[in-house]
Amino acid sequence: MKNVLVTGGAGFIGANFVHHMLRTYPDYRVVVYDKLTYAGNPANVAPVAKNPNYAFVHGDICNREQVRAAVKQHNIDTIVNFAAETHVDRSILDPDAFVQTDVYGAFVLCEIAKELRLERLHHISTDEVYGPIPTGKFKETDRFKPTSPYAASKAGGELLVISYFLTYGLPITITRGVNTYGPYQFLEKAIPLFITNAIEDQPIPLYGDGSMIRDRLYVLDHARAIDVVLHRGTLGEAYNVAADMERTNLDVSRKILALLNKPETLIQRALDRPAHDVRYALDTEKLGALGWEPQMYFEQGLEETVQWYVDNQAWWRPLKNGAYLDYYQKQYIERR
Ligand code: NAD
Ligand code: TYD
Repeated sequence: MKNVLVTGGAGFIGANFVHHMLRTYPDYRVVVYDKLTYAGNPANVAPVAKNPNYAFVHGDICNREQVRAAVKQHNIDTIVNFAAETHVDRSILDPDAFVQTDVYGAFVLCEIAKELRLERLHHISTDEVYGPIPTGKFKETDRFKPTSPYAASKAGGELLVISYFLTYGLPITITRGVNTYGPYQFLEKAIPLFITNAIEDQPIPLYGDGSMIRDRLYVLDHARAIDVVLHRGTLGEAYNVAADMERTNLDVSRKILALLNKPETLIQRALDRPAHDVRYALDTEKLGALGWEPQMYFEQGLEETVQWYVDNQAWWRPLKNGAYLDYYQKQYIERR
């Protein structure tokens, strides 16, 4: 592997993965291919912009010609696909782009990887393809039962990727990560939303009674897991990535307020998400056998993340702009 195309690399996990790869492998070239939707942000990759091993291509994974041209131009041998529409609440308000990018876009990458005989297509999937699990943990062999249009689109995209392995022998691998947090996460997701609202003394909208449970994975632990599967994973296989740091949303919101010295009266009950998954939890024995384990304890990672948003207000304040405020109005004010 020498020349890696990171689709969706200007987003949250993709950008952290790009930083990790350039730090870890000085002999790799890393090319970000990104449409720069509302969630993509050149500032996320600004710290590596001058690295001679880094390049950026503005493009859509749904556009076959654009993808083909980027792969040829940069002599790409490996694609790592982060590109997706990623927010459950937006998928409920407006699912169209989710089906386009998360299903059709994954299909286009399979086609190009097959046509140009790439060494690897690694696809980033999610725990949400399995659906909720009230007790116990999902193994990689468990059935998919997604509930939201986001999760169903991710499941469809992933099934296409697997079908290209089974049908055409395309060299693919897949990782299914749990809820991820850390620097550069777009403001709509729970943790950055709660942190930035609290900094601004704005209400923290907690869905339902806050009792839903998510496992919380630090973004660099997620990036290292993808690195391990890229280098040591078995072709055709999917690997769960999880941290075993299950917390309720109420617990997370209280901890954020405590770290910022803000009152718990900021917590406000918001109208619940339809089909809100009660809990996600994954068994990681398979990835553990490749030598990966998470390093970040949640309370430590949360403290560092809160500090990052306190220190990097120049990164996030401009994001609270017209389009984001329109979404906020639709999601939190008009649905009340
Ligand atoms: P994000 O929303 O922060 O970033 C997505 C990136 O993809 C953005 O840069 C956006 O511009 C780009 N993009 C969107 N549509 C595109 C298209 N058609 N062509 C090219 N680029 C496009 O997302 P994230 O949180 O970093 O998630 C990255 C991947 O990881 C996604 O596939 C997501 O499903 C998966 N995932 C996320 C989490 C999580 O907790 N955030 C957990 C598990 C899996
Ligand atoms: P989110 O960050 O959207 O991730 P996901 O839906 O992929 O798990 O939400 C994490 C949890 O926080 C989820 O149980 C929904 C809840 N949540 C709220 O209570 N309020 C909010 O404003 C948001 C965005 C999420």
